Amino acid sequence: MSTSLIRKYNVQGPRYTSYPAVPHWTNELNVDTWTQSVQNAFKATNSEMGISLYIHLPFCESLCTYCGCNTRITVNHAVEEPYIQAVLAEWAMYLAQFDDKPQLAELHLGGGTPTFFSPKNLHRLLESIIGDCTLPEGYEFGFEGHPNNTSVEHLKVLRQLGFTRLSLGIQDFDPVVQKAINRMQSVEQVAHVVEEARLLGYDSINFDIIFGLPFQQESSIKQTLEETFKLRPDRIAFYGYAHVPWKHAGQRRYSEKDLPAGLIKRNLYELGKKMLLDEGYFEIGMDHFALPHDGLYKAAMNNTMHRNFMGYTSRRTQLMIGLGCSSISDSGDAFVQNKKVVEDYISAVSDGNIPFFKGHKLSTTEMVLRKTILEIMCHFKADLDWIDLDAKQSLDLLHEFIADGILELNGTHLQVLEQGKPFVRNICMALDPNVVDKATVSQQFSKIV
Ligand SMILES: C[S@@+](CC[C@H](N)C(=O)[O-])C[C@H]1O[C@@H](n2cnc3c(N)ncnc32)[C@H](O)[C@@H]1O
Ligand code: SF4
Repeated sequence: MSTSLIRKYNVQGPRYTSYPAVPHWTNELNVDTWTQSVQNAFKATNSEMGISLYIHLPFCESLCTYCGCNTRITVNHAVEEPYIQAVLAEWAMYLAQFDDKPQLAELHLGGGTPTFFSPKNLHRLLESIIGDCTLPEGYEFGFEGHPNNTSVEHLKVLRQLGFTRLSLGIQDFDPVVQKAINRMQSVEQVAHVVEEARLLGYDSINFDIIFGLPFQQESSIKQTLEETFKLRPDRIAFYGYAHVPWKHAGQRRYSEKDLPAGLIKRNLYELGKKMLLDEGYFEIGMDHFALPHDGLYKAAMNNTMHRNFMGYTSRRTQLMIGLGCSSISDSGDAFVQNKKVVEDYISAVSDGNIPFFKGHKLSTTEMVLRKTILEIMCHFKADLDWIDLDAKQSLDLLHEFIADGILELNGTHLQVLEQGKPFVRNICMALDPNVVDKATVSQQFSKIV
């Protein structure tokens, strides 16, 4: 890939798990508008496609310095009980909005580290929530597990509750990198979790791997992927390290000069991508690779893949409820995000309030743009028939992408070209009116490459 393209397009930008991106929400949404929107979405879509549920479980026993997630570091497991009570109480508030039994099409536990919670506590939390729902055919339940604390008991309990998907945080197997990110985990430990999960019937195992971590070299990526291939996870998320030290102080524990940057970082990606493709994985969306037997690959091929705050999913639901601190909910035409600090979240729920602190109601134009951005992120193509293609700004930007070999435009049909795939975020930014200065997006976001 050309150095000039990387230089030119390596600006900061949103990851578009939502449109508008969270920093661009107007925050004018009130509780009544939100609950009305949830009720409408439920009524219109529950019987046909069901709902999705995301539960944020924020605790981790130790801080991985690179981490950009919303976490609370503690070794005190007494925090589990009040948190579970709060999540159940928040769920009860949503249940009260529904005029029928929810069909739970998707359930995802994220964090933090869901496996911080004891198997017994996870069982209590989930048995109660799942018991309030019916399960449609092909429902998909998954969780994020840390290989160091995902026990056979966790795997068993969650499998019995219907979980078949497991996502393991791997990041890098190189001991030098692991030391710098304060995350020592052996290949043997990971292999053990994978083997036990497969024996229990988990049929989709994902590994998260990051390029661009401190001290990472091409040999680290090579070693990490070679070890990974021996375990043959069904999916691999190959993320670019997001360096946002102004938001996550842990990232200041190493020096920026130890981070592979610019072209060096890009080369790590290129090496990893080549190894993944040579091994039979397919690139199915931004940062995501899958083997052809995996449901997400099939969804990508059938054009049914969807993207939401949980990342890429193979089902499309209109209503996604996010429970727990910092979780985001999406009703199709509105978003809310819950309070981020554990105590603030618990306290709002104890007061009987839906614990959100910001939200956004989409305008008609935003709904159309949202659909376009979703198509580009999921299928690398979109129809721009809604855009005034004679408008100078749109045309100039699109022509620049065309000249750089990033996309093709046939009439109003946009197709991202192979070498343009790493720049899908740039294409979305070009169409996003909230990104006023397309060259220098503010420090709210991490860099694209
Ligand atoms: C909640 S963690 C996964 C579960 C568990 N806590 C663990 O670490 O194994 C979610 C994933 O986000 C990714 N992640 C976290 N911080 C990141 C960063 N700064 N840049 C890129 N990816 C990051 C990692 O790949 C991590 O596995
Ligand atoms: S990477 Fe996972 S385990 Fe590490 S601090 Fe972040 S959420 Fe916790």
